[in-house]
This record gives sequence, C-alpha cells and structure tokens, in this order.
Amino acid sequence: MKQQLEQIRLQAIAALQEADTPALLEDLRVKFLGKKGELTAVLKLMGKLSPEERPVMGQIANAVRAEIEENLEARKRAVNAAVLEAKLQAESLDVTIPGTSVAMGKEHPMNQVLQEIKDLFVSLGYQIIDGPEIELAEYNFTRLNTEEGHPARDRSDTFYFNDDDSLLLRTQTSPMQIRAMENAKPPICILAPGRVYRKDEADATHSPMFHQIEGLVIDEHITMGNLKSALITLMKSLYGEDAEMRFRPHHFPFTEPSCEMDMQCHKCHGTGEVDGQVCSTCHGEGWIELLGAGMVHPKVLEGCGIDPEKYSGFAFGMGLERMAMGRRKINDLRLIFDNDVRFLNQF
Ligand code: PHE
Repeated sequence: MKQQLEQIRLQAIAALQEADTPALLEDLRVKFLGKKGELTAVLKLMGKLSPEERPVMGQIANAVRAEIEENLEARKRAVNAAVLEAKLQAESLDVTIPGTSVAMGKEHPMNQVLQEIKDLFVSLGYQIIDGPEIELAEYNFTRLNTEEGHPARDRSDTFYFNDDDSLLLRTQTSPMQIRAMENAKPPICILAPGRVYRKDEADATHSPMFHQIEGLVIDEHITMGNLKSALITLMKSLYGEDAEMRFRPHHFPFTEPSCEMDMQCHKCHGTGEVDGQVCSTCHGEGWIELLGAGMVHPKVLEGCGIDPEKYSGFAFGMGLERMAMGRRKINDLRLIFDNDVRFLNQF
C-alpha cells in the first residue's frame, strides 16, 4: 500500500507538470483526488489493514493528498498566468496610438449666419415661417401690386414653368408676406427665409439661386421708425456697434415709401479701391446692397383683407449670402456655393 501511494504521488506530480491548460488540470484533479479517483480507491482499502498499520498509512495518505493538492494549486496559478499572458499578447492594445479620426462635417458658414439672424429676430418676437419655392405668379407678383406687364415680371428675369406665366420659381421671398397675411390676423410679426431664383449671371455678388430673408410686421401704429430700428439692431448685432450702413430711397411696387439698405464694403472699407485697383467685391461702389424694405402698400394690405386705415406695417427682404459675406469677410459670393472644403474649413 505504501508503494501504491508513492506511485500515485509520483505519477500525479509528473502528470501535473505536463498539464498546460485549465481543462487538463481539472481532469487530473478528478483522476487523482476525486471521489472515484486513485487516492480514494487506495484509502478504501485501509479497512483491511491492521490497527497498528492504519494510522501510519493514514498519515502517509494524507501527506500524499496534501502534496498533490499543493502541486495542483501551484500549477493552476502558473497555467492561468500563462493563459492570461498569451491573451494579453494576442489582444495587445496600445491606448497611446492616436485613433483613426473621423472627418466631421459642420454647419455651412451661410447657415451659421442664417442661424444668428433667426436667433436675433426670434428674440425680438418674430415667428419663423416657411413657404413654397414653386410659386403662383399671383402671389409672387399680382397680389404684391405688380400688375401684368410690369418689367419685374419679364421673362428675361424670371424662371416660368408654363406659357401663360402663371407658375414660376419665386423671384423673391415677398410672396410670403401675402401668405402670412392670409393665414393670420394682425398683429403679424414673421420672418421667412428661403431660396429664390432669378436669371442672373453669377459674379462676385450675384447667383441665379440665392437666399432671401423676408420680414413682415403688421400692427396698429407701425412706422418707418420701427423698420429702421429693427434693421439697425440687426446690423449692430451682426457687424458690431460701429457697423457702417446707409438707407437710400428706392421704389418697390408693394411698399410705399420704399428704401434700400447698404452695408459698407468689408473689403475696401468704403473706399472702392484695393491696392490702387477697383474693389472686386463692391465693384468700386464702397457699399454692398443688402436689402429692400418699406412700409407695406395700402393696396397690398387691402388685398389681404386688412384695413389700411387701422393697420400699417413694414416689410424687408434681405440677401442672406451678402449678409454672410459681410459677417464672414467673404470676398466672392460664388465661394458660398462652391462648397470647397478648403474654404468651408475656415469657419
Ligand atoms: N422683394 C424685394 C427684392 O427682392 C425686397 C423687398 C422686400 C422690398 C420687402 C420691400 C419689402 O428686391
């Protein structure tokens, strides 16, 4: 029996040394120490020993079990460490390597400026509204006091869809004035940004598609003073307290009186010249026309069922691209539409 125990001890220790996975070690534990294992089998024979021999054998058997257990635990630690090490090697991750950067898009400079303008007018109590780019000539012209035969309706300026010239790509956001007055009773205070289309050649300040922002305020006692105050507030908020602007008398069929507002050219600072050359941004004017505006014509109010004796109002329509040019010091309007990332990344 002593020999048997010694054999089990040697076999177990040798086998444990060989085992290199947790599964193999578990197999060996069952084989040598388990309930049906070899050591247990030997211990079951103890009953047959003499009373003198029993405690001696018992001691040897316990020592063998303890030694195998110790070996098993030591091997488990070594094997687990090796498994972990192998895993770390295989899945090595260097957290100091710079990540693969994902190119992030961002808001277009024109939309950034649009957002600034919207934020300002919302803070002044205006409601932002939206309307169709494919418009009826009735809204784009007729109801804006622009009768048939008026030069503004000319086919050379307007994209019409049909031969009777009744449907077109809106040439201005002003039809939104009519739509706003149709949909609500005064007081009305709206801002309507959107695309407009004209048969213009593209140059530094023109494009056949561009954006306008229409504003309309109708209430009792609205005056030209309110109009100027709104526009001056806008200019100062966008271009700073010392923004240079000027109002010029003008004519629009749907406002009376009418005016235009210019901002000082940001490129030549009003001189019209850059390095002895005519300024290419303002064509030597020193000013860039930003918007048309005026007091809503009584005929337009009446046509929308608003009593011009009781109510008055102002309207303005500004060119968003030109506002953005001044705000972002962009010298050529075409850059806004090119969408060259080298340009866009500057904002
Ligand atoms: N719609 C005019 C234009 O495109 C601008 C304007 C708007 C003028 C509102 C007066 C009032 O030129």
